[in-house]
Amino acid sequence: MNRFPLFLDLKDRWIVIVGGGGAALRKARLLVSAGARPVLFASVFEAATRTELEDRAELIERLPLREDFTGAALAFIAIDDAEEAERLATIARQAGALVNVVDRPSLCDFTTPSIIDRGQIAIAISTDGGAPVLGRNLRADIEALLPSRAGELAGFAARYREAVKSTFSAADRRAFWERFFDGPIAARVLAGDETGAHEAMLEAINRPQNDTQTGVVHIVGAGPGDPELLTLKAFRLIQRADVILYDRLVGDEILSLARRDADRFYVGKAKSNHAVPQDEIEARMIALAREGKNVVRLKGGDPFVFGRGGEELEALRAAGVPAYVTPGVTAATGCAAAAGMALTHRDYAQAVTFVTGHAKGDADPDIDWAALAALKNTLVVYMGVGKAGRIASSLLAHGRSGDTPVAVIENGTLTNQIVAKGALQNLEAVIDAHGIKGPALLVIGEVAALADGDTLGELATENRRVA
Ligand SMILES: C[S@@+](CC[C@H](N)C(=O)[O-])C[C@H]1O[C@@H](n2cnc3c(N)ncnc32)[C@H](O)[C@@H]1O
Repeated sequence: MNRFPLFLDLKDRWIVIVGGGGAALRKARLLVSAGARPVLFASVFEAATRTELEDRAELIERLPLREDFTGAALAFIAIDDAEEAERLATIARQAGALVNVVDRPSLCDFTTPSIIDRGQIAIAISTDGGAPVLGRNLRADIEALLPSRAGELAGFAARYREAVKSTFSAADRRAFWERFFDGPIAARVLAGDETGAHEAMLEAINRPQNDTQTGVVHIVGAGPGDPELLTLKAFRLIQRADVILYDRLVGDEILSLARRDADRFYVGKAKSNHAVPQDEIEARMIALAREGKNVVRLKGGDPFVFGRGGEELEALRAAGVPAYVTPGVTAATGCAAAAGMALTHRDYAQAVTFVTGHAKGDADPDIDWAALAALKNTLVVYMGVGKAGRIASSLLAHGRSGDTPVAVIENGTLTNQIVAKGALQNLEAVIDAHGIKGPALLVIGEVAALADGDTLGELATENRRVA
């Protein structure tokens, strides 16, 4: 470590910035976000600097003299003239200030790190002034892992610090905080449920003998398959889960993100062969949460699109278990992106409808095909492969043209994605010809003609087929 990191309280401190351009503005912005009111000196201020800082800083239109640095905690020199910058750095240092000369690490007493700012949580990354772009990249990586409410969590814990201190012995205190940050109360703060978290916290402090706090259940969308399409929140929740209950369409790559000691239960259903009945899944989630577990119920796509997430949420709420929902990229939007086919398009379709081809048992789903045929917009059918023949004839019988383009997308967003194209009148034949078994979507409408199957550029494409 070449430079020592520390966190300064800059409120009400005298901080000088020399410069009136973009570099000075960026430093001033940082300082203002830390509660400081910097003083800027420059022969000329750029309009953008003046407009943004007018009410937040003092702007003095001349170069500073030695006495202007007297008592300054920090001085930033952000001017292009190298010789003048060196001279100003010297007089600032002689006046007792710590000096930073922008882009000249050898003249700096300190460097400004890449900063992650989450309120009470601040993370600073230094590359010793030598590789600021690397610093920014590392910052982006850490940002992605850090819950957006990390600052709120620190603030929440700070509010209870005294109460915990006066209730528990030093040894118990440490155990209490370990349980807190790994446990359901912190999960509730991070989920934005501060009221519930406060109630649970008071209970935990006032009745420590009732040691088991109720856990939480996160109903999480895992997206259509490609792990890169997970939301940041889903990624973080999977990594922190004690237990994961997952469905058939959640792949190994996504499951491998879980902690190694997390329990995993497969509760997926094969068609008409329910691996675990729905009420048993719900009962299991409730029981696990009551054991104090941080449970993630992981579902393919979005949990609220043909995913029974609504029923599960109702059951959890009825049981008094804290439950939160994290959306995911649903198969329709994921497959559309992966196949290069917009679901709405100003030239072809002004609306899109998602329907399911699946109903209880072998029954046909209760769908108004006449209304759907009349719309002439994009129709996306989930779970429709087995009933494709019946779906096509219903639409044709109600007036949709036999030439209407169709695209059948199997394993959308995955490396073995298949996009099979044809017309509504031969939908079943298209499916048979490509041996499509599912998971697959039927996309019916003019936009289906646009599908080309190669637009999620980052995925391996060698196995992908478009036909
Ligand atoms: C029970 S539904 C769940 C849908 C999910 N909740 C969503 O939002 O995507 C399962 C159906 O979604 C569709 N599906 C899910 N993932 C898919 C994928 N990667 N490619 C094509 N279709 C997919 C298939 O129609 C599959 O039968």
